[in-house]
Amino acid sequence: MTQQLLVYVPPHPLIKHWLAVARDVATPSVLFRSAIIELGRWLTYEAARDWLPTQETAVESPLAACPATLIDTQVPMAVVPILRAGLGLLEGAQTVLPLAKIYHLGLERNEETLEPSCYLNKLPDKFDPETRVLITDPMLATGGSIMAAMAELTQRGVDPALIRIVCVVAAPPALQKLSGAYPGLTVYSATIDGTVNEQGFIVPGLGDAGDRIFGT
Ligand code: PRP
Repeated sequence: MTQQLLVYVPPHPLIKHWLAVARDVATPSVLFRSAIIELGRWLTYEAARDWLPTQETAVESPLAACPATLIDTQVPMAVVPILRAGLGLLEGAQTVLPLAKIYHLGLERNEETLEPSCYLNKLPDKFDPETRVLITDPMLATGGSIMAAMAELTQRGVDPALIRIVCVVAAPPALQKLSGAYPGLTVYSATIDGTVNEQGFIVPGLGDAGDRIFGT
């Protein structure tokens, strides 16, 4: 069977609502940050559906023994927020994955060339190959940043099939790059927008999510 990039846009009213709030140019920074946190929470909830490892067990209810399913906490779980904007989604993701380790990755696009450069890398030298990794970044635009993050992770032993990317807006150039390089990878996004303009902004998009989250 040929593997393909999977891109899910969950048709959930909460996700649609917080996306609308985030898109609105009139939304002040404090509410924008809340919207991104909520999107991180609900998109991670959706992404966890077929990704969180579980184990079958049994528990005693007050009335009888019964079969039960628990999260398998022996399997390593990690969240990799791409700084800065990925920190907003991280806050929501952590409410769903409180036991995941957090490895920060600081990437900044050059405003002229749009090439990303790495200014902070807290990834371990090697990951256990079973590690489930969730990457958070609100925007996949030209795809340079997410491709750099994927390279850093796969070089360190992460299986692309165990990665979930959580973003708010994904654009075709980024999805095409990911699809070419990582069939079998899964992306959860609040929406897919059609255009990336000459300045590298997704249209309609969210504007500069990092600046809007941090009020800079
Ligand atoms: C934005 C965004 C992504 C990247 C997407 O970050 O959060 O990381 O650009 O663009 P690309 O797909 O073309 O690489 P930015 O570099 O503006 O940094 P910030 O999060 O610190 O604002």
